[in-house]
Amino acid sequence: MEVIRGIGRMREFVREQRLAGKQIGLVPTMGYLHAGHLSLVQEALKACDVVVMSIFVNPLQFGVGEDYEDYPRDLTRDSELAEEGGVAAIFAPSVAEMYPPGGYYSYVDVEKLTEGLCGKSRPGHFRGVTTVVTKLFNIVQPDIAVFGQKDAQQAIVIQRMVRDLNMPLRIIVAPIMREADGLAMSSRNVYLSPSERKASLVLSRALNIAGELAANGERDANVLRKAIETQIQAEPLARIDYVEIVGAEDLKPVEILQGRILIALAVFFGKTRLIDNRIVEV
Ligand code: PAJ
Repeated sequence: MEVIRGIGRMREFVREQRLAGKQIGLVPTMGYLHAGHLSLVQEALKACDVVVMSIFVNPLQFGVGEDYEDYPRDLTRDSELAEEGGVAAIFAPSVAEMYPPGGYYSYVDVEKLTEGLCGKSRPGHFRGVTTVVTKLFNIVQPDIAVFGQKDAQQAIVIQRMVRDLNMPLRIIVAPIMREADGLAMSSRNVYLSPSERKASLVLSRALNIAGELAANGERDANVLRKAIETQIQAEPLARIDYVEIVGAEDLKPVEILQGRILIALAVFFGKTRLIDNRIVEV
């Protein structure tokens, strides 16, 4: 496995693979890999021959006062895990390689779908995501790219961007990987103190309760949201950012459950903001 730092070498690697007749898959990440990231590699390997994983903590998608500086980084460990997971090359550019000093002026914006949920509490976040993902697509020119359902809004926004801008690749969305006790895997879980880690179980528990209510015939979105909020508010270490019940494709809030519904939440434990979600089909 090769660790590539420069855009020039990345393009050359892809050219070599293409000449050898290989289909290329891209798994974009910010590193500090866990089994959730590696499951995306497995999904990619089902759909292409050669998987490139990007590891880049993208300053553009972090807001003022967010955790850009503190975001966990360990390229040595990541390289080992990626190689074991079947990655052919890691693309790990520096910030200067992606955003050369002296001015950066070009952005990609997806409207509407970025207004609610995480877009509301993290203004500018999705503009940073869609811009860096576009750059990665242009650099690697993959046939497919894999994203996780863990970041449900991100996956929908990227699918929409690819469709709207006729980007020549296919997006695959892979299921959420969880720890044995139910916590959705995340690079940010390392921030949690032992007591916050225990408290964080309330997220998957609350989503399961909402899922059961829907399975038992409850169709009132407010009842589901209240049930989730009640669970989370009973946990003293948790502070709700949002709990939303929206259409799984258009991300518009719903009153009555019908079709594919996304139940999404963001909750602070101390300074750590965790997200989780669940799809229900009724
Ligand atoms: P990051 O948070 O590192 O996540 C990289 C990819 O892994 C995303 O597609 C995310 O949805 C997926 N992922 C994270 N945790 C997961 C889990 N528990 N199960 C399944 N998939 C999971 O998302 C980003 O980075 C960035 O915004 C990025 C797309 C790389 C752009 O900078």
